[in-house]
Amino acid sequence: MKNLPSIGQPHNRLEGALKVTGSAKYAGDYNVDGLLYGYVVNSTITKGKIKSIDTSEVKDLEGIVEILTHENRPSTAWFDFQYADMDAPPGTVFKPLKDNVIRYNGQPIALVVAETFEMARYAAAKIKIEYETEGFATEMAANLEEARDPKKGLASLLKPPPPKPKGDFDTAYKESFVKTDSRFSHGTEHHNPMELYASTVIYEGEGKLKIYDKTQGTINSQMYVANVFGLKMKNVQVISPFVGGGFGSGLRPQHQLFMAVMASLHLKRNVRVTLDRAQMYMIGHRPPTLQHTKFGADENGKVNAIFHEAIGETSQFEDYVEIVVNWANMLYPAENTLLQHKIVPLDVYSPLDMRAPGGSTGMHAIEVTMDEIAYRLNIDPVELRLINYSMVDQSSEKEYSSKELKECYLRGAKQFGWDQRNPVPRSMKRGNKLVGYGMATGMWDANRLLGRAEAILKSDGKVEVQSAVTDIGTGTFTIMTQIAADQLGLPLEDVTFSYADSKMAFAPIQGGSFTTATVGPAVKAACEALNKKLLKIAGLMEGSAFAKAKFKDVSFKDGYIFLKDNPGTKIGYDEILKHNDGKEIRTKNSAMPNPLTYGKKARAVHSAVFVEVEIDEELGVIEVKRALTAVAAGKIINPKTAESQLLGGMIWGISKALHEETITDHTLGKYMNDDLAEYHIPVHADIHDLQVLFVEEDDKFVNDLGVKGVGEIGGVGMPPAITNAVYHATGKRIYDLPIHFDYLL
Ligand code: MOS
Repeated sequence: MKNLPSIGQPHNRLEGALKVTGSAKYAGDYNVDGLLYGYVVNSTITKGKIKSIDTSEVKDLEGIVEILTHENRPSTAWFDFQYADMDAPPGTVFKPLKDNVIRYNGQPIALVVAETFEMARYAAAKIKIEYETEGFATEMAANLEEARDPKKGLASLLKPPPPKPKGDFDTAYKESFVKTDSRFSHGTEHHNPMELYASTVIYEGEGKLKIYDKTQGTINSQMYVANVFGLKMKNVQVISPFVGGGFGSGLRPQHQLFMAVMASLHLKRNVRVTLDRAQMYMIGHRPPTLQHTKFGADENGKVNAIFHEAIGETSQFEDYVEIVVNWANMLYPAENTLLQHKIVPLDVYSPLDMRAPGGSTGMHAIEVTMDEIAYRLNIDPVELRLINYSMVDQSSEKEYSSKELKECYLRGAKQFGWDQRNPVPRSMKRGNKLVGYGMATGMWDANRLLGRAEAILKSDGKVEVQSAVTDIGTGTFTIMTQIAADQLGLPLEDVTFSYADSKMAFAPIQGGSFTTATVGPAVKAACEALNKKLLKIAGLMEGSAFAKAKFKDVSFKDGYIFLKDNPGTKIGYDEILKHNDGKEIRTKNSAMPNPLTYGKKARAVHSAVFVEVEIDEELGVIEVKRALTAVAAGKIINPKTAESQLLGGMIWGISKALHEETITDHTLGKYMNDDLAEYHIPVHADIHDLQVLFVEEDDKFVNDLGVKGVGEIGGVGMPPAITNAVYHATGKRIYDLPIHFDYLL
């Protein structure tokens, strides 16, 4: 691979061997001398007050070091002022141990710190708590009269509210040839990454901490700890090189971090707090959602009226929202729209972004509604999408910077064999199984934020590039190395990408599918700055052939600078380093969207998803036998890691459509299936033939690498495609997710 450009190559993950051999260390794997273990105590009631906490039975046991509750907790800066985090919704962030008020079931109310994890957990179970209970409400469907508009906050930058009503929906709908009117419901989902939430806090002296944290943003956690505990930023280092799945659950600092830091500062000791699986159901979730769509179309299938309403759950203290209803008009150019999103505050913890938050919910309703129109008019579902195709986002009236969705539909349909489908429902069979083909569109944002990176020519002639960004399993480590290698003209093995340390150059939280588009250009810019600096030093050397050379006149390859016009003239990095007294050479650079032009075009990734299901009608069992996603997401840096992102998203889509749901007992206000035995996710036996097809786009508007991001799109189109395939197979239109087998009986 030495002389190939690295971008576009399907390199294996650079950390793959470390992960599969168990040598990759996760936040809970850092063992240090004198480590103490914290175990969180959770409220067993849903709402009310703590009357008393009696720790007398265990507090003097050997090995128990401290039990912190709201009564004896040390003071922190935070309890007197509001600090949230990069992903906090508007409202008042929940502060553990602040007072005796219980706001949701499972709320953290105490921390036991012991010499061993087992002692801590044992003591936690023996603490006697008396509560004063109050009535509560956790069921959204029973509290719809409380639905209201969400407050706006900083997060609205990435989560724009629904566009204002346009045209005259009521009249346009009334006059439409085809009118749909459908109501959808989605259950609660929990992120359930394999790795448990853990923070290992190393006490390095007065007010100085090194923290191994499970997070999607090292600097987000660093800022949180510094602000909440009144520490200096430079004295808080957060490191998170390996993350065993995030899916959004690590976008906010979680309460094990708060607890571990509080105990560490108080005891001046090293402390680790790990949440167990059930406790991970108390750190946020995808909210249950109700949706209502009414689309009106003419006899040719052209959609001219769109009504889309969503109602989602939030907590009593923060207004969590996601983008559910904005997508339809971004895809389909109707003149008359009425879009609204309301929230119902309930006695639950705040919901939290989960992979394609809002998109995977809203696109389900939109694309199932489109399927209904297709059947009503006897138009092929792919054809219906093409009839309503637009290169302009009609909700903002901006042209797309690129949009190869049409190619996705056409190539995807061809590769899948969509023309083999008999459009009549219940017409296709295989043995005693009904067979159904379904398709849907997927869509997600192509966003970009400010990122920074530093490039360092080391004294051995190799280059290290640094950024505080995490790699939550997406391949970031590998693709940033590829981007750097190409910019530097070096083989992959001569470049090291160091990352996931808050001391490094700034990167935002890793989420929203914006990491490659944010940090990639920063890595490129830092490497370009290094190249420029090397040329400058070379030009200053005595008798240098590069004294007058401009940056555009030279090329960088394999550790040399060449004159383009005269490739025989070159200078090696070793000579440049010698001239620099053998000292390493460092450059930092930022990259961000141009504020003057960035908002002028609409930017999105798109997919066309095709699914074949087989259904045993007597048992109601649905199997997704085949699925193909054709995706247009700009330039693909690494087809292997990108495909892996898509496949993971597709599997999650199967899960969302057919398996996943957190069940709440509303008489208790409590999640009942808070473990991996009863929270259903697909296993190998549920996953069959999955294919990904990339339709590349050449889009230098989004950023100079032309990348958009593939982290979330894979999950968006699958649930509607599966739902539509189920209709095709059975003639039954199911509007609720997940689809339970008894819905088909
Ligand atoms: Mo993802 S919900 O942006 O981590």
